[in-house]
Amino acid sequence: MKMAGLLGVSIPVQGFLPNTRSNSLDALLVEHDDFSSNELASKEEFWREIREQFGLSGEWVNLNNGGVSPSPIVVQEAVELLNRKTNEIPSRFLWSTLIKQRDETRKVLANLLSAHPTEVAIQRNATEALENIVFGLPLEQGDEVIVSERDYPSIVNAWKQRARRDKIELKWVSLDFPIDNPNKIIRKYKRLMSPKTKLVHITHINNYNGQIMPVAEIAKIAKSKGIEVLVDAAHSFGNLDFKVQDLHCDYLGTSLHKWLMAPIGTGLLYVRQSKIQKIWPLFAHPPKHDDKIEKFEHLGTRALGLEIAIIQATTFQEKLGLDKKWARLQYLKDYLLEELQKQNRFKLYSTSNPKYASGIITLEFKDKNNIRLYQALTQEKIHLGRITNGNINGLRISPHIYTSIEELDRFIAFVNDF
Ligand SMILES: Cc1ncc(COP(=O)(O)O)c(C=O)c1O
Repeated sequence: MKMAGLLGVSIPVQGFLPNTRSNSLDALLVEHDDFSSNELASKEEFWREIREQFGLSGEWVNLNNGGVSPSPIVVQEAVELLNRKTNEIPSRFLWSTLIKQRDETRKVLANLLSAHPTEVAIQRNATEALENIVFGLPLEQGDEVIVSERDYPSIVNAWKQRARRDKIELKWVSLDFPIDNPNKIIRKYKRLMSPKTKLVHITHINNYNGQIMPVAEIAKIAKSKGIEVLVDAAHSFGNLDFKVQDLHCDYLGTSLHKWLMAPIGTGLLYVRQSKIQKIWPLFAHPPKHDDKIEKFEHLGTRALGLEIAIIQATTFQEKLGLDKKWARLQYLKDYLLEELQKQNRFKLYSTSNPKYASGIITLEFKDKNNIRLYQALTQEKIHLGRITNGNINGLRISPHIYTSIEELDRFIAFVNDF
């Protein structure tokens, strides 16, 4: 991995940026090479060392990584260093030096998705990525789009705005979570598909309850009817192991600052090659980019250093391995549920079907005032998500790989005593 041209010469990222922590990560991984991801999931001494990579003060217990995750120090240092270098001679460093590095980031991200780099645009977040499709897909009055009130609210708003503007019809899938049988979900989407349907919007891992949705099955049915599919992968990218081809979608948008732990303010848009030409990007592009993925990147001046530092996050993830990350997050979720169950009665809004469960859980304590509990937890500097949507009225808990069992115990003890 090169940062060619960063200082006018070609140098590897690791050589350019302080890498003491990266070395310690390498050593840790070598030391634990013999363990399977499932064996490693419960090895606290290993995860304590991983936590060290984040340099956290420990003041807060952060159980809302589904919102935004902290980045490992190697990523933070890259951001800070590139910011400092940019500020020495901004217009030259941005537009002559960093601009040339973006394709390396694009390649690395495409590789993670198993997509072609000519299909991956670097964005600032999932909202931007998804709204490029919501507002850019040519649609006419009366065309139908399938969406759910359980999709992410700002994207639902985007679709509602599009409907008001262009008189398209939104067809709503009703989802009362938890739904343990994926066939029920598939049937709900299928039932709404009509000859007027142009696109199905679907959230890969649902933001309200962490459920993995049967995207591929729904997309295959849509495809057989000539309907396109847009996937919101904000909680699946960098979390669940998948290839974009396996989803059978045409478009996919995600942030990178959640599960990949890339710099805050980074995202990705995938557009199937054959579909690039017809989408109108949110920001105007020159005609020469009509059929090029770069058409989605004419955003004006921005912090390009963030885009380059994404590589530090992808390197971190590749070294650690998605399998270890997934196994640890499942372990933390199982631990939490098991311990909470010992003293509490709660309604679980997340699926109990392990095939469709991520590490994110949403629950409502039956014998407690959940709003007051949430407020008291915040005062105690234990941060999680408060969810009120549809039939869900509860607390969302989304630990990350730096979350320690001690932190979960602190949360559990507080809830038990409340
Ligand atoms: C499912 C889903 N989609 C999209 C978004 C928007 O992400 P961002 O704020 O990074 O644009 C979120 C944010 O939480 C989300 O949960």
